[in-house]
Amino acid sequence: MDFANKVVIITGASSGIGAAAALSFAKQSAKLVLVGRNETNLNQTASKCEQFKNIKPLTVKADITVDHDVKNIIDQAIETFGCIDVLVNNAGVGIHGSILEGVELYDKAMNINVRATYLMTSLAAPYLIKSKGNIVNVSSIAALKPIKDFNFLPYCVSKAALDQFTKCVALELASKGVRVNSVNPGCTRTKFIEAAGFPVNDEMMDRRATEFPLGKMVESDEVADLILYLASDRARSITGSIYVIDNGELLV
Ligand SMILES: NC(=O)c1ccc[n+]([C@@H]2O[C@H](COP(=O)([O-])OP(=O)(O)OC[C@H]3O[C@@H](n4cnc5c(N)ncnc54)[C@H](OP(=O)(O)O)[C@@H]3O)[C@@H](O)[C@H]2O)c1
Repeated sequence: MDFANKVVIITGASSGIGAAAALSFAKQSAKLVLVGRNETNLNQTASKCEQFKNIKPLTVKADITVDHDVKNIIDQAIETFGCIDVLVNNAGVGIHGSILEGVELYDKAMNINVRATYLMTSLAAPYLIKSKGNIVNVSSIAALKPIKDFNFLPYCVSKAALDQFTKCVALELASKGVRVNSVNPGCTRTKFIEAAGFPVNDEMMDRRATEFPLGKMVESDEVADLILYLASDRARSITGSIYVIDNGELLV
């Protein structure tokens, strides 16, 4: 898979799956636009990426729930590289809470996990149509079944909406030569659960993973491999598809 001269935007590149995807695209010579809020982590990812092929990524500090920030990501990408070939909508947060807590948590989950992705996609789409590029959305198995351990109601609803977004946009843009797909990881070793407000450590997560059919957690670089495959020309016949990577977690 060669991404030489391909411009790839990755949101949430400052951590976890997004950072792993950035490294994998960098190894394949992509020109990267790395997006996140934590500048220190973002710069760390960028300097690791640069070491592979000596191509300096553009880093954009942005909160994707702020419309102006999202517009700035696209503007800076075009100003710096002149086109967009791949958009990886990866940034997301795990919002948990009960139906008895009202609608604020729903709004929060939808704002970050759906609305921001919707706006990013809308602003990137004209450039993706020009380049006949593609989009990979990072969803979750939470789109496909409730996660009983963490009461992730708002999160599950947002990721289910994201999957429908993937399919609708795939259908709309197919005739314009743009593919849109989704990767839906199960429990993956990142800061995600901690960022969602649960004090967990590796040992606790490994213990939880023994319940999954393959008895382990997903690693970020495994999700990155799938993202790269879907973004590559090898996946030229694939659009509107939802790819689960979960060690069989959905089966139990
Ligand atoms: N880990 C799992 O078990 C798992 C399972 C299924 C799906 N996923 C999905 O995988 C994606 C990546 O998560 P991860 O596991 O890699 O978790 P992570 O390590 O916590 O990374 C989350 C990333 O999203 C970014 N982000 C969050 N809110 C943002 C905002 N408002 N504006 C800009 N960036 C924002 C974070 O940036 P900053 O740190 O710079 O703020 C960070 O780079 C998410 O969509 C998540 O739902 C994760």
